[in-house]
Amino acid sequence: MIILGLESSCDETAVAIVKEGKEILANVVSSQIALHQKFGGVVPELASREHLENFLPILEEALAQAKLELHAIDGVAVSYGPGLIGALMIGLQLAKALSLSLKKPFVGINHLQAHLYAASMQANIPFPALGVVISGGHTALLDMQSIDHFTLLGQSRDDAIGEAFDKCANILGLPYPGGPEIEKLAKKGNPKKFTLKAGRVKTNPLDFSFSGLKTQILYAAKGQSAQKNAPLIIQEAEKADLAAAFQETAFNDLLQKIALASREKDYQAVVFGGGVCNNRTLREKAKDLKLELFWPSLELSLDNAAMIAGLGYQKLRENPKGHPFDLEANSRLGFCI
Ligand code: KG4
Ligand code: ZN
Repeated sequence: MIILGLESSCDETAVAIVKEGKEILANVVSSQIALHQKFGGVVPELASREHLENFLPILEEALAQAKLELHAIDGVAVSYGPGLIGALMIGLQLAKALSLSLKKPFVGINHLQAHLYAASMQANIPFPALGVVISGGHTALLDMQSIDHFTLLGQSRDDAIGEAFDKCANILGLPYPGGPEIEKLAKKGNPKKFTLKAGRVKTNPLDFSFSGLKTQILYAAKGQSAQKNAPLIIQEAEKADLAAAFQETAFNDLLQKIALASREKDYQAVVFGGGVCNNRTLREKAKDLKLELFWPSLELSLDNAAMIAGLGYQKLRENPKGHPFDLEANSRLGFCI
């Protein structure tokens, strides 16, 4: 079965073609980073317009990469949530149009579940496993009974971990997306020069809170009770120390909660997904967990359509008819739907 995957939940327009859920025949991602960079974050309306312009040329590029004609496709999989509503709708309408014209089924895919599918495209994961989603929009720990059956154990009550990286970078005057910038700067810094604290959520020790950490960075960089647009009061070297302290605090919090969750049930493996997986410092630090770790390859960590097509294959095998045409985009789709 050859599945065409479409992804447009945020600021990446992506098309991929995947055979039997794992073999990637084409994987094309067009990032809109340059467009949104001057605004310091993603502008939803601009993202939608870009998706609309980009999708068809990218689809042609993916078909050329896979050396296939469109009629060779057996089904279409598309991200239908969570994400920016206008952006999601464009991918979903394209999927429906292709499905109608090709007379092939289409299936809506939960973007978060697809992030957890990514690692399994290159490895066989033993279950039950502990799923860890760390992206720009989400931070969550999940009990994974199989590749597409989950129970939510904990999630962020406010900012997602990637969002915290982006906001911290913004405070320090670094460009969007902030994750790679903070990682680079942190290498030059001493994390012990600043004492920061990650948030604790009393009602669920596996929940996260990163917004307090962001405020600590703001006050350390710009002065107590400073506003976001106030000037920096620290030197270059201290900026690196602050980036290092932020990164270490966020990752220690994440790894402590993974360790705590893994003690509650006898997990055989930890499966990571989402853009923050790109961070090499995290990959090194996670080795201390002494659990079997599964990471997506770097190209499958950030938003992409290969993970959508891959999970689409699993869903269409279970239900060959796919979804009806009245499936709607859902910007707030939860983890376990
Ligand atoms: O999964 P993703 O592409 O989009 C969402 O579904 O949200 O993740 C994007 C996020 C951004 O917040 C970005 O700053 C973060 O992943 N990110 C990183 C790194 N590379 C990307 N965070 C920390 N370190 C990195 N090297
Ligand atoms: Zn994502």
